[in-house]
Amino acid sequence: MNDADRKALEAIRRRNPDADPRKFLPDVPVMRIPRHIAIIMDGNGRWATSRGLSRSDGHRAGASSVRRALVRCAELGVEYLTLYSFSSENWRRPEDEVRALMELCVENCHSQQAELSSSGVRVKVIGRREGLPEDVLGALDFVEQATAGGNRITLCLAINYGSRGEIVDAVKSLARDVAAGRLGVDQIDEAMVASRLYTAGIPDPDLLVRTAGEMRVSNYLLWQISYSELCVTPVLWPDFTAADVDAAVREYASRNRKFGGLAGGA
Ligand code: IPE
Ligand code: IPE
Ligand code: MG
Repeated sequence: MNDADRKALEAIRRRNPDADPRKFLPDVPVMRIPRHIAIIMDGNGRWATSRGLSRSDGHRAGASSVRRALVRCAELGVEYLTLYSFSSENWRRPEDEVRALMELCVENCHSQQAELSSSGVRVKVIGRREGLPEDVLGALDFVEQATAGGNRITLCLAINYGSRGEIVDAVKSLARDVAAGRLGVDQIDEAMVASRLYTAGIPDPDLLVRTAGEMRVSNYLLWQISYSELCVTPVLWPDFTAADVDAAVREYASRNRKFGGLAGGA
């Protein structure tokens, strides 16, 4: 291990003493472990349909993949995992499917809270509260509060989330400050816009994974993924395992990020 990797490992271990990226990815320099992974969890419907099950059964099966992905991300020392759980466009789905998704959300907040808390996971929810049923809001508030002290990994759940709506909300909040004389137009810069997004304070995703093969971003984190590396896998979300997390991270580590500059980074 070179100096940079040793330092990267120390930084990871200070936050999460049990993380051991080299155990799962001995071929990947620790420095190249992504700090933030965002996932578009897609393919639950296709998984269920191909088995003659209902779409809701597919969503239920997908919930186990969440746990597997979260555990492996923590083991690798990833700091943030952001999961697209329900988009602001998913309300267009049949009522019974939407209801099943909301019920699953409530159920999992309660059934997973103890394990999340004991494993040092902090849950943060992003998206619009307006429109979500009271019981869902209550369950989300409960799990956020119960896990507020978690400092090993942040699980960010995008629920009733749409990126354009998020940008609209940010613009409104800036406009209100300008109208009230609290903010000058020329003070607005990229950092200030970022600070008004739901993801304020969270670094941009290094890696965006989409399962089930579609080559689109579906209104997810449009501002935040400006320089994220993209990885699309054909694996359907309910089939997604720890080995698939490893594969995506290995792929990410092999990329040459340039941020508009020359090879090798800044
Ligand atoms: C992703 O699976 C889960 C949600 C969008 C909530 P889908 O339900 O979109 O699965 P497909 O795309 O129909 O296979
Ligand atoms: C994106 O998947 C939303 C979530 C994963 C929650 P969709 O299945 O809704 O996306 P489209 O409709 O295929 O673009
Ligand atoms: Mg889909």
